[in-house]
Amino acid sequence: MTEITELDPGLHEALYRVSNGACGLLAFIAIHSTRLGPAAGGLRMRGYADEAAAVTDALRLSEGMTYKNAAADLPLGGGKAVIVGHPAIHKSPELLRAFGDAVQRLDGRYWTAEDMGMTPRDMAEIALTTRFVAGLPNGTYASGDPSPVTARGVLNAIRIGLRHRTGNDDLTGRRVTVQGLGHVGWNLCSLLRDLGAHLAISDIDDTRKAKAAALFDAEAILGEMITRVPADVHAPCAIGGTLTGGAIFHMSTVVVAGAANNQLPSDEEARQLHERGILYVPDFIANGGGIINVAAEICQIEARGPWVERKLEALSTTLDAVLTAASDQKCSPHFVAMEVVLEKLGQVQNAVSERCGPCTS
Ligand code: NAI
Repeated sequence: MTEITELDPGLHEALYRVSNGACGLLAFIAIHSTRLGPAAGGLRMRGYADEAAAVTDALRLSEGMTYKNAAADLPLGGGKAVIVGHPAIHKSPELLRAFGDAVQRLDGRYWTAEDMGMTPRDMAEIALTTRFVAGLPNGTYASGDPSPVTARGVLNAIRIGLRHRTGNDDLTGRRVTVQGLGHVGWNLCSLLRDLGAHLAISDIDDTRKAKAAALFDAEAILGEMITRVPADVHAPCAIGGTLTGGAIFHMSTVVVAGAANNQLPSDEEARQLHERGILYVPDFIANGGGIINVAAEICQIEARGPWVERKLEALSTTLDAVLTAASDQKCSPHFVAMEVVLEKLGQVQNAVSERCGPCTS
């Protein structure tokens, strides 16, 4: 029997602990906001150190989904789920179905889909016990793996960032560092390589890194050293929190734009990037392609292809406006983007200049 316990959600709308001893399921579902619609956000499976780490991740990721869905003008709120465990070791059909059972019992307040450690086949397994799941491999509105669309959105973000910073979005001969060669990072490398970019890449999985280095004619970099490689663009496509003060200190790129959620440990790093003259593309805009793809399935859009294209274009327009405003206000785009989404959410905000603090000077 799958047990659902409500935990204190703090400033979020809801937080659930989900467990099932028979199949070893321990998961957390966080609902940050349903202000714009049912909460939607992927399911991540990771070997968290403890329950507290998993809860923190679910809470931060679900908040990011609220902003991401608002930025893309989707009729969806922000939610996220995490399962504690290593996908290669602990994932089983029983565990996925038990998780689906919990999602079903939330009665549509939360829609799940793929995130790290999950595949369309896993979503199909989850769909055996809930109808509130997207990113399915088959079916009338099935959207499949969101990563290729996420990668396209990141590429758009890179180009818009380059245009703003250098006046030119041509990638021929540009050096791009890609951190994380999973579903999104791999697709992004392929797109960048096709456009003539020179790649430097890193991944904690050495086999994957070696394979990518050979395929994309890329330079393989050791671990965190990736942020020290001289390049035009850095694309964080692994985990969150990688844009630390230490990493920023050594960075020499002009643009940072990638797929990873919650790239900034805090607002402070947005200021540091700005002060170092590095254009940071807010992650919740750069990586919105995936949820746009998923939203077409949740919203049962008939002509999904054109709808997704229009939404991607609109997201690019939003990003362009955010970067223009940030440049005018001599402020990190992070603060301007926050202002934009909080306005969409109907939340009263301080002036950007107040939030931006020292970087307006
Ligand atoms: P994935 O699980 O397929 O790939 C992640 C890759 O990063 C793996 O190859 C892993 O070995 C590597 N990695 C982990 N820690 C690392 C580190 N410290 N340094 C270098 N590499 C490391 O995940 P996926 O789907 O590609 O997602 C990547 C990021 O983008 C995640 O933060 C995810 O939340 C975010 N994202 C993904 C979307 C999607 O459509 N899949 C949509 C929006 C955001």
